[in-house]
Amino acid sequence: MTDTRSQAGARVALLGFGTVGQSVARILTSGDIPGVELTHIFNRQVARKRADWVPSTVTWTESIEDILSSPVDIVVELVGGVNPAHEWVRRALESGKSVVTANKQLIAHRGSELLALAQAKGLEVRFEASVAGGIPVLRALQDGLSGDRLVEVRGILNGTCAYILSRMQKQGASFADALREAQQAGYAEADPTEDVDGADAAAKLAIISAVGLRRPVKVSEIPTRSIRPIEAVDFEYAKELGCTIRQVARAAIEDDGRVFAAVRPALVQLNSKFGQIEGSQNIVSVRGVYGGETTFSGSGAGGGPTAVAVVSDVVSVRRSLVGAPGIATPMAQQPYAVNPDFVAPHYVRFIVNDKPGILAQVTAAYSKFGINIDGVLQLPRFRKDRLPFVTTLEECAESMLDKALAEVGQSDYHVQPPLALPIFV
Ligand SMILES: NC(=O)c1ccc[n+]([C@@H]2O[C@H](COP(=O)([O-])OP(=O)(O)OC[C@H]3O[C@@H](n4cnc5c(N)ncnc54)[C@H](OP(=O)(O)O)[C@@H]3O)[C@@H](O)[C@H]2O)c1
Repeated sequence: MTDTRSQAGARVALLGFGTVGQSVARILTSGDIPGVELTHIFNRQVARKRADWVPSTVTWTESIEDILSSPVDIVVELVGGVNPAHEWVRRALESGKSVVTANKQLIAHRGSELLALAQAKGLEVRFEASVAGGIPVLRALQDGLSGDRLVEVRGILNGTCAYILSRMQKQGASFADALREAQQAGYAEADPTEDVDGADAAAKLAIISAVGLRRPVKVSEIPTRSIRPIEAVDFEYAKELGCTIRQVARAAIEDDGRVFAAVRPALVQLNSKFGQIEGSQNIVSVRGVYGGETTFSGSGAGGGPTAVAVVSDVVSVRRSLVGAPGIATPMAQQPYAVNPDFVAPHYVRFIVNDKPGILAQVTAAYSKFGINIDGVLQLPRFRKDRLPFVTTLEECAESMLDKALAEVGQSDYHVQPPLALPIFV
């Protein structure tokens, strides 16, 4: 901790003057946050970033050394990505500055190391905005629910997927058309891989698992499945079942202590809170041994809501700088092994070139692996040579279902590989 703190309050340097950085600067210079002073803004090619609404007392720089050698108390990292943000945050801590960040990749991959360094130095690293943007879910888990033992968390944590899937649901659009629309509306990057294939949600899930379940896991061990294979017809079948489809991130501690985690497109009830999430809205639901289920929802992204989470962390760090206790951020050093094999009821969609005996083969494969069928659905009006039908299955382990589908998937009547989605009710 630097001991040269100004009488005016905690001095703050911003790294990154993009969407969130600008919104944070707006709040910090508004006069609404007493005891906190924005002193530096760092960005590459900073001259083009200068804004006339920023007070003239703020130093603009494109040299990280200017920040590290200055007497700022709190470095706010809003650059994104693991590198070079990791290096800068590490050096900021080494030079006695606490850190606030919105960077889920940095915290999910290097969080435990950075938190250990902060702890050794008597400093803080806070990262509320890294999960679910403007919803103060980490604070709620660490503080408001610290009296419970949390054993399960489920969330819709990625706005790009929620936008695409809700467009497909409402307009009957294909994945490709909904993705294009999301890109035009600014909800999806030119390269949407990290969002639609699950890495973004997996990073956030790893953070929630560490903070809420107290089970740090390696992001690389969290299995993800893409939303790309979802077709418009899946929404028709889901609706028949009173459901819709969303990307769901889920982690749980089983009774035997094993840690499960996965990111999947899944069926969720149409009229549930999960089924109604769209666009940049996020939802996180946690289950505790003593308190049962608690759900948080709100804006998961956007400059304003995310900046509020960042500034709230700054205020919190400032409080502990002046001696008021903050909230501990437990993040054990050793990650737990992840078991991806959730047991859940499932929806399995086939698209086949119809011929006699297909259903018999499918049911035989299910029965071989101990899987019970709950129902079979086949909507009329589809061509025989591209016929979709759905089986719904009673609770089964994903690994058993994968084996059954690998066996049945060899047959030549499949027009597309079968699609299996867990059903969360
Ligand atoms: N936007 C949201 O809704 C949201 C929500 C939750 C969390 N977050 C997280 O918040 C962080 C910032 O997001 P953002 O949306 O504000 O991103 P952004 O608009 O792209 O802003 C990033 C800023 O950092 C600068 N920058 C990037 N790489 C740099 C480098 N190597 N050296 C110096 N400056 C560099 C960029 O400069 P250029 O102008 O030159 O590119 C830009 O001004 C990310 O970790 C993101 O995941 C964002």
